[in-house]
Amino acid sequence: MTQKPNDRQDSCGQPPSSTHEQSVQASPRQRAEEHGDAMDRPAFQAWTPEETERLLDELRIYRIELAMQNEELCRTREALEVSRARFFDLYDLAPLGYLELTETGLILEANRAAASLLEATRDSLVGQPLSSFILPEDQDSYYRCHGQLWTGSERQSCELRLRHADTGFRWIRLETSRRPMAKGETPGCLAILSDMTEQKKQEQDLLRSRTKLRALAAYREKVREDERAHIARELHDDLGQYLTALRLDANLIEMLFAKENAELTKRVEGMKQLIDRVIAVTRSAISRLRPMVLDFGILSAAEWLVADYRKRTGTLCHLDMLDPELELNNDQATTVFRILQESLTNVARHAQATCVDIRMRSAGGLLYLNVHDDGRGFDPAVVRNKNAFGLMGIRERLIIYGGTLKIDSQPEQGTTLEIVLPIKSGQAS
Ligand SMILES: Nc1ncnc2c1ncn2[C@@H]1O[C@H](COP(=O)(O)OP(=O)(O)O)[C@@H](O)[C@H]1O
Ligand SMILES: [Mg+2]
Repeated sequence: MTQKPNDRQDSCGQPPSSTHEQSVQASPRQRAEEHGDAMDRPAFQAWTPEETERLLDELRIYRIELAMQNEELCRTREALEVSRARFFDLYDLAPLGYLELTETGLILEANRAAASLLEATRDSLVGQPLSSFILPEDQDSYYRCHGQLWTGSERQSCELRLRHADTGFRWIRLETSRRPMAKGETPGCLAILSDMTEQKKQEQDLLRSRTKLRALAAYREKVREDERAHIARELHDDLGQYLTALRLDANLIEMLFAKENAELTKRVEGMKQLIDRVIAVTRSAISRLRPMVLDFGILSAAEWLVADYRKRTGTLCHLDMLDPELELNNDQATTVFRILQESLTNVARHAQATCVDIRMRSAGGLLYLNVHDDGRGFDPAVVRNKNAFGLMGIRERLIIYGGTLKIDSQPEQGTTLEIVLPIKSGQAS
């Protein structure tokens, strides 16, 4: 019994879907029959039996070929269905938010994660501008990022805050890429939203604790410097005075009694030498703690450091003070002094230099200090990964005052430290 066109299954053995029925008025069979009616039919009556036999053979082969092609098509269609379903699972269940946007930033489609980040249902998102979910303070960066997608690189990214009912906002990273456009399709883009709230929180915590740690280190450094200054002053004012008095007494004893007594003369001479040695040791301890010369300003202190370096190493060291009126407050002067001290110690200890040039000048509220040596140099990148506490100390001291350190050095090429330190005028104390 022949099937009626409407009873027939589709070519893959499935009943035609209702949408298919609605969209296609006539079945392929009906359309083929109509097409066949319109064609000129061959005059079968005039054919010989052999010709008819040949035609039937040909038709049989066509039929088998068609059935095979049909099978192939069905397999491809099934594979497509499977990969489409897999794609939708991946899209829907992805932990990142995916949005399809128009050129003007209207939402065309959203996956589950995006809907949850935007705190809306997927259906209600369609047609809404993404900008309406972004905090007003961050809208400029969003528009810049979205705008550049059409004028600049076809991939853009920025960090933004989305409105959030409970916490006020939520940090996200927005990555957009222009969608490959089919011919005639309106331009759009794919946006990926990743939640960065936790990461931002950790970054801020880290920054806060680093700032606290720095403040603590700065405070401890200041306490140490004050303590050193205090001990140096005590040593100078008290111990120094007593030693001087002892020395004067020894002189007096020598003058009054030593002439008649040779043994006493010898003893007093020994005493005087001992007192002189104690005075020298005390002076050296004082200047190692905090040279008194610092009380006369950074210029005198720098000159003192340079003279000390020359004496210790026996090599050349030039000091160029381009601003003889330079005045720094006590903390700043101590900072610059300690930095210069550590720089010269490093040259003496590591550089094997024959000459050091120091330049100090101030301009526009900034102090510029350059320390250059012609020594063997080093690789700053290698040193940065080690526990280089001297250079780290210089950097940390500068950070406290908003200053910077640049190290220009290469093996066998000498070293230059470039230090910039903000100094406000009228702060000298
Ligand atoms: N002027 C310099 N010339 C050559 N090498 C230097 C110089 N300054 C620093 N360095 C190198 O940098 C390293 C780190 O210096 P620093 O942080 O002061 O630590 P330390 O002096 O205790 O070794 C030194 O060990 C040395 O290798
Ligand atoms: Mg050092």
